[in-house]
Amino acid sequence: MAGGAGGESAEQCFAACVIESKNYLEYRRENQRQPTSAIKANIMNTIKYTDDKGTNFNKFKIFIINQDKRFIPPLSTRIDINTYCDKLWKEAKNFIAINEENDEIIGICSFYCTPGKYKSSFLSLLSVDESFQKTGIGEALIKKWAEYAWSKGMETLETKTWEKNEKMKRLLDRSTFTLTNSIPEFNNRITLSYKANLPLSAAALNIKNH
Ligand SMILES: CC(C)(COP(=O)(O)OP(=O)(O)OC[C@H]1O[C@@H](n2cnc3c(N)ncnc32)[C@H](O)[C@@H]1OP(=O)(O)O)[C@@H](O)C(=O)NCCC(=O)NCCS
Repeated sequence: MAGGAGGESAEQCFAACVIESKNYLEYRRENQRQPTSAIKANIMNTIKYTDDKGTNFNKFKIFIINQDKRFIPPLSTRIDINTYCDKLWKEAKNFIAINEENDEIIGICSFYCTPGKYKSSFLSLLSVDESFQKTGIGEALIKKWAEYAWSKGMETLETKTWEKNEKMKRLLDRSTFTLTNSIPEFNNRITLSYKANLPLSAAALNIKNH
């Protein structure tokens, strides 16, 4: 897998990301978002799915920083985002949804395939840009994760989510995951563990055809 931003220190890289991130937010403010229905009509033609070779580390990190507050609770309340992005980029397998019209990342799915006894692949991060939700990108990324894990000899998929993350819970249900555990954590939050057997059933794989 490719490394971080060539030759720059982590601090320089992060500072550059923050600046780019501000530019990105300004860009988003200036360019009115398309109505959801228009996005739905066009999305199938403009979206491409790639691994991390189809983008670069700065874009990857900026996307995750911009998505931070959409996680329940925000990623930054639990982990150091800078370190987390580095780890995902270097150690995880990443599938990325890109809007070909402007080359922007609109979704990321990061997971690990651990060879060995358990033959299970763990999903660490799944996130889709808010403007592009409800277009099936989350489902498509889960499907790509499942296909890749199966091709690497994995037998199960696993992930965790917060009890209150209704969107993620519905997505996992539709993708034929089952709830395996429920663990109370700090601040009375409850983490749910989910698992699915590979290959995913035809019903789950056919939910959307991207
Ligand atoms: C959870 C998350 C990844 C789901 O992504 P998503 O792209 O919106 O998921 P999908 O588009 O595949 O499905 C979402 C909804 O759109 C609907 N949908 C899917 N394709 C559609 C289409 N072509 N037309 C209309 N609706 C569609 C689905 O039926 C689903 O409906 P529901 O939420 O009412 O059940 C996204 O909400 C997210 O990024 N959340 C913040 C980060 C997060 O919490 N990640 C999980 C961490 S554990």
